[in-house]
Amino acid sequence: MKVVIGLCGSIAAYKSFELIRLLRKEGADVKVILTKSALNFVTPLSCQTLSANEIFIDQFVLTKGIKHIALSQWADILIIGPATANIIGKAASGIGDDLLSTTILSFPKPILFVPAMDTEMWQNRIVQKNVKTLKATGYYFVEPGIGSLASGKIGKGRFPQASLILKKIMTVAKGYGSLRGKKFLISGGRTEEDVDSLRVITNRSSGRMALEFLYAVICRDGQAKGIFGETTVCLPEGMKISRVRTSGEMLQNLKDNIAWCDCLIMAAAVGDYKPYSKSSEKIHTEKLNLKLKKNRDILKELSKHKGKKLMVGFSLEDKDHLKRGREKLDSKKLDLIVLNSDDAIGSDEIDARILKKSGKIIKIGRVDKWQLANKILDECITEMTAKK
Ligand SMILES: Cc1cc2nc3c(=O)[nH]c(=O)nc-3n(C[C@H](O)[C@H](O)[C@H](O)COP(=O)(O)O)c2cc1C
Repeated sequence: MKVVIGLCGSIAAYKSFELIRLLRKEGADVKVILTKSALNFVTPLSCQTLSANEIFIDQFVLTKGIKHIALSQWADILIIGPATANIIGKAASGIGDDLLSTTILSFPKPILFVPAMDTEMWQNRIVQKNVKTLKATGYYFVEPGIGSLASGKIGKGRFPQASLILKKIMTVAKGYGSLRGKKFLISGGRTEEDVDSLRVITNRSSGRMALEFLYAVICRDGQAKGIFGETTVCLPEGMKISRVRTSGEMLQNLKDNIAWCDCLIMAAAVGDYKPYSKSSEKIHTEKLNLKLKKNRDILKELSKHKGKKLMVGFSLEDKDHLKRGREKLDSKKLDLIVLNSDDAIGSDEIDARILKKSGKIIKIGRVDKWQLANKILDECITEMTAKK
């Protein structure tokens, strides 16, 4: 993949270095355009070293080809990041008064803006109008993150994590918009059940699989709501995520939200059992004698509200995988079930198969959870199209 990144005059310009590094790690050929203002924040030498390519700043220099057109014809995708309010305004008005803005005007393939600015600037009505114009024109955006800003304030405007931008780039390059208008409810992480005032029964699920689903849905321009139990992964700010702790809370929260979605992805590792009763004080170990009772089966309960929704479950087994997967798929009225083994718990990678209601088995093999999330979403699209 050939990528041109335009860096603008933002305090966040240095954060694009990490993006350049990640893109090159993915095998991309990266060329950097710096605006004149960007030169106040980063040096051409750093950009050249990281991209291992010539740096482009001025369009009025003597070269063999015509610079802005040559770059437009060369690249598969143009990233403007950090995108200032200024470049957003220029692009929305069709202004081409420097190399980056003229490259935008002459670029025939996807353009992705990654704005970064102070909250007041981001919320400015003219900036928002310009963003709306660009989106309506077909340009892509990664929304700025929420958090502490260079001004010391907390608000929306942060340059998002480079790994999130990378995911969006990969998806835009492949088929952005494939989930536009679709709503996904995604459960993730692990539930815990109280034994006493100190102890809980839980498992080792990290929440990564569900987080990758959230990113993948958003990157494809769908809407996602996450319901997470405890997690080891850090959940990003600025996404629609609610937190629960017990299996009962997970069930209630999913029930409250199920009507909203077109597809439920149940990636949470929900505990099957809980103690008969919880002690409000610490139980002394000599008296510890746990009696457990089964939790309600969340997917079975939710299948009563299924209607035309697509429902995806996960099955983690150590033997008779296909047989048990098929039983779960039928008893919980699922459309797809992802079969994986317990080494996926807490790991970045997963070896999985997808079993469909039709009986078709799709062997995925060992992939990272981001790749698996995208493969499952591809299957969801096939099923949603077939259901129409
Ligand atoms: C210290 C400093 C930090 C700035 N940070 C930002 C920023 O994060 N986002 C933004 O839109 N403008 C920011 N600006 C303003 C832009 O640099 C200014 O609008 C400039 O004209 C943008 O030019 P460009 O879009 O050609 O790079 C900053 C200015 C200064 C002095």
